[in-house]
This record gives sequence, structure tokens and C-alpha cells, in this order.
Amino acid sequence: MEFEFILVNPNYDKHIALIQLNRPKELNALNLQLMLELKKALQQLDDNDDVRCIIITGNEQAFAAGADIKQMESKNAIDLLKIDQFETWDQIRKTKKPIIAAVSGFALGGGCELVMTCDMVVASETAKFGQPEIKLGIMPGAGGTQRLTKAVGKALAMEMVLTGKFMSAEEALSAGLINRVVPTELYLEEAVKLAKEITIQSPVAIRLAKESVLKAFDSGLQEGLYFERKNFYMCFASEDQKEGMKAFVEKRKPVFTGK
Ligand code: CAA
Repeated sequence: MEFEFILVNPNYDKHIALIQLNRPKELNALNLQLMLELKKALQQLDDNDDVRCIIITGNEQAFAAGADIKQMESKNAIDLLKIDQFETWDQIRKTKKPIIAAVSGFALGGGCELVMTCDMVVASETAKFGQPEIKLGIMPGAGGTQRLTKAVGKALAMEMVLTGKFMSAEEALSAGLINRVVPTELYLEEAVKLAKEITIQSPVAIRLAKESVLKAFDSGLQEGLYFERKNFYMCFASEDQKEGMKAFVEKRKPVFTGK
């Protein structure tokens, strides 16, 4: 897989793929091509049966400092409508396999929104999260007002979106935005550790469970419960369910194949 602005390793660790955002001089600013490459890579990894969990990372200085301001600066509303960049983001969100964001340094604007599009977040103690679009005379456009509010509640989301202030990794942890904070030299390693806890599970059950948790964002309780129930029943169509329950009864570890 050859890309210009991302590095993709489908075999980073057993059943774990790694995508690294790779525009270090621009603090991984998310230009349109990078986002298209990310979408394509995620689709390829989704189709790769050997991959069970995907990690997206940047570098120590920046996960991503937002959408590419230089690329957006001269655009008008109709240009943006035609480019329809958020269609790419919608596709990224449809990735079936679990995605962990391994974040160090800046995760701002679209960078923070990309983090929130992922399923779990491991951060280094230097990570900074924020939606500073207001300082550019605009507002978040890739889900920031919605996902941040659902993750951290109205008061804090409102403050971050209206003032553009950053949140430290510790603050993000206590607000419920992220899963873990670790020393900088360990953030990728810790993300791999978390991924390994997922890759030993049944890929079928993981897929259905991820879909069901995401449904909680899009639906009322009754609709979500109904959706969950269907997916719960669907697990019983898998060999992994038989294996998982048989292994429990036989007091051994299950071996899941994704069938
Ligand atoms: N777009 C384009 N280029 C960017 C960028 C961005 N979002 N963020 C940083 N860069 C570039 C800088 O222009 C600079 O390039 P040059 O060396 O060519 O001048 C390089 O990356 C390094 O950046 P700084 O010199 O500014 O580094 P710093 O350490 O002094 O500051 C920072 C770091 C606080 C993150 C600062 O770069 C910054 O404020 N960046 C913009 C953050 C932002 O506003 N993000 C929101 C973008 S809009 C958006 O994301 C909309 C949406 O919802 C989809």
C-alpha cells in the first residue's frame, strides 16, 4: 500500500495494523488528500481478514493540528459544498474494525475530531486536545460540536468550542474523552497493549459490539436496545460463540477464528 501522506503497516503486530499520519512539518495538518488516503487505507484494512484492530497515530509532537488551514483559506461555501470533504469522514466512521487513536502532542480541530471518530484513545502526557476553530472565525465542522458534547458534556464542550482553549491529557481523561494517559515514551506501546486485549476476542462479536455501541450515539434508547438485541442474536450465528462458551465450560482459553 503506497500513500503520500500516511504510512500504513498492516502487520505492525499480530492482527494489529498501524496507520501513521505523516506530514510532520505541517504538524500532520489534515489536507484533503491525506483524508482520502486515510479512508482508502481503512477500507483496505477492513477488507483484510488478518487485521483485527487498527491504531492511528501521528508523531510525538502532533497527532494532527487540524484541517489544513492553508488549503481552506481561499475557499468559499460553494467550493466546500462541492468538495464535500465530510463525506470522507463519514466513510471513515463506517470502519467496521475497532480503531484506537494513539495521541501525542497536538490533537486540534479536525485532529481532535479525528480522535473522536476513533473508538478508543491512548494519550501521552503531552497530548493537548482542542477545538480552536473559533479563533479562525469558523467553528468545528467534522463532528466537534456533537461528539465532544456527547463525550464531555455541555458545559465543558461549550467552553472549549467557544473559547478555543486546549485540554491537557489529564483533563481529557477525567472528562471522559480518552481512555488512558501514559508517559510519552509509552503511548504507542500502550495502544498496542489495548489492541491486544481486543484482537484475542471474537472478530465477529467485536464487529457487532462496536456497531452497537456506536448506535447509542445515533439513536434513542428503545431503537438502540432493539439494535443491540439483533446483534446479540447474530453472535449466535458464529462459530466463535460456540468456541467461546465451550472453552468456558472446558475451563480453557478460547481460540477465535472470526467465523
Ligand atoms: N493547517 C495548516 N498548516 C498548519 C496547521 C494547520 N491546521 N497547523 C500547523 N500548521 C503548520 C504551520 O503553518 C507551520 O508551517 P510553516 O513552518 O510553514 O509556517 C507548521 O505547521 C508548524 O506550526 P507552528 O509554527 O504554528 O508551530 P507552533 O508549535 O508554534 O504552534 C499550534 C503549534 C498551536 C498547533 C499552531 O500551529 C496552530 O495553532 N495550528 C492551527 C490549529 C488550528 O487552528 N486547527 C484547526 C484547523 S480548522 C479545522 O480543523 C476545521 C474542522 O473542523 C475540520
